[in-house]
Amino acid sequence: MPDRFDLPAGFRWGVATAAYQIEGAVDEDGRGPSIWDTFTARPGAVRDGHTGAVACDHYHRWPEDIALMRGLGLDGYRFSIAWPRVQPTGAGPVNPAGLAFYDRLVDALLGVGITPLPTLFHWDLPQALEDAGGWLNRGTAYRFAEYAALVADRLGDRVPAWITLNEPFVHTVYGYAMGIHAPGRALMLDALPVAHHQLLAHGLAASLLHERGLDVLISNNLTPVEPASPSPADLAAADAYDTLHNRLFTDPLLLGRYPDLSAFGTGPDLHGAVRPGDLDLITATPLTGLGVNYYNPTRIAAPTAPGLPFDLLDIPDVPHTAFGWPVVPDGLRNLLTGLRDRYGTALPPVTITENGCSTTEDVDDTFRIDYLSAHLDALATAVAEGVDVRGYYTWSLIDNFEWAEGLFGQRFGLVHVDFATQRRTPKASYAWYRDLIAVHRARCAKEGSVTSP
Ligand code: BGC
Repeated sequence: MPDRFDLPAGFRWGVATAAYQIEGAVDEDGRGPSIWDTFTARPGAVRDGHTGAVACDHYHRWPEDIALMRGLGLDGYRFSIAWPRVQPTGAGPVNPAGLAFYDRLVDALLGVGITPLPTLFHWDLPQALEDAGGWLNRGTAYRFAEYAALVADRLGDRVPAWITLNEPFVHTVYGYAMGIHAPGRALMLDALPVAHHQLLAHGLAASLLHERGLDVLISNNLTPVEPASPSPADLAAADAYDTLHNRLFTDPLLLGRYPDLSAFGTGPDLHGAVRPGDLDLITATPLTGLGVNYYNPTRIAAPTAPGLPFDLLDIPDVPHTAFGWPVVPDGLRNLLTGLRDRYGTALPPVTITENGCSTTEDVDDTFRIDYLSAHLDALATAVAEGVDVRGYYTWSLIDNFEWAEGLFGQRFGLVHVDFATQRRTPKASYAWYRDLIAVHRARCAKEGSVTSP
């Protein structure tokens, strides 16, 4: 069986974070309010009333965080740019002080040999745009493209590849359908236009990035779906869930059409949101790569109550993370070979842009080491089976603000953060990841190939 050390030469090693989860400094240097500032102020919305107002204070402590990354020997760092820092109301001219933060960050990363991989939207929409309808408003897609161009004009001379959106599935479902993330709207299936407007935003921004000679990716949260039984009802439910979670966000990008959404009471126009020509805009710029965020598979059964066409079940008899998510490393292999089988030559090279787990451990995080090593072995198996995977960015560099779970609930970092003092302490997984990268690189060099800087 192939293992993680068999990953190909040139394979890129990284870590991932997101702006609202680490930066803090929500009122500094002209940053405007985001939907997460509003949502976290809502009583009961976030565990223990936590907010990202300080988070990991990365806005001030970024040199220390870059030193930690340097210590890992990374090839790349995936972070997100806070739209409300760059355009405080989501429209109009740049806020120079906000953009300057990312300019300094990019230069410092390059200075230590780490390639920046920015995500333009990781859920922190400027509140002013939400007040105008947020992603239910088609205009937000056009505002996003303008913002993307402003950022690329400033950083594109040094940043070769860009991720447009993070996990439009999670933002649509948690943020607009269920209301458990910002902006906290509980529209259920009436949220479907949010999916289309994000994909339209991707397409419009991708064209502008491409015009500037830049590579374009998008990060989708994907899950292999397993039916609870081979009964026709369970199979139909699993198919419906697969359509909603996986195909809704990948078919338009790779095949130029929406999947059959009849199980969700809509045709391919997503409640009238899709206009003629939109799918051409979404696919106008082929993806340089597909970002895949993988955490766990999903087991699905036929619904037991009216409403959605599926029930979500737990996967028994496997370990579970602190979040209660089942640990199934082979799910990653399954997901990747399934993507290859489904999309064939339409599938661009894949980069794993998130994978990791929350644990209750302190710094002796053997659960995380087991999780990461098993997932990387599964990844190497998928590569050996012919899937083109170019890199792996683990979630996350440091413990951070885990959305509705707040600051202390779910720790995903290779580095422990004491949120009272902001003291960073590398965990055992930090040393493990550092050594893995070094050994892999040495092995590739010995075999005569040289990995990318
Ligand atoms: C998100 C991250 C989040 C992680 C763990 C992903 O869905 O992109 O922001 O922290 O999962 O929940």
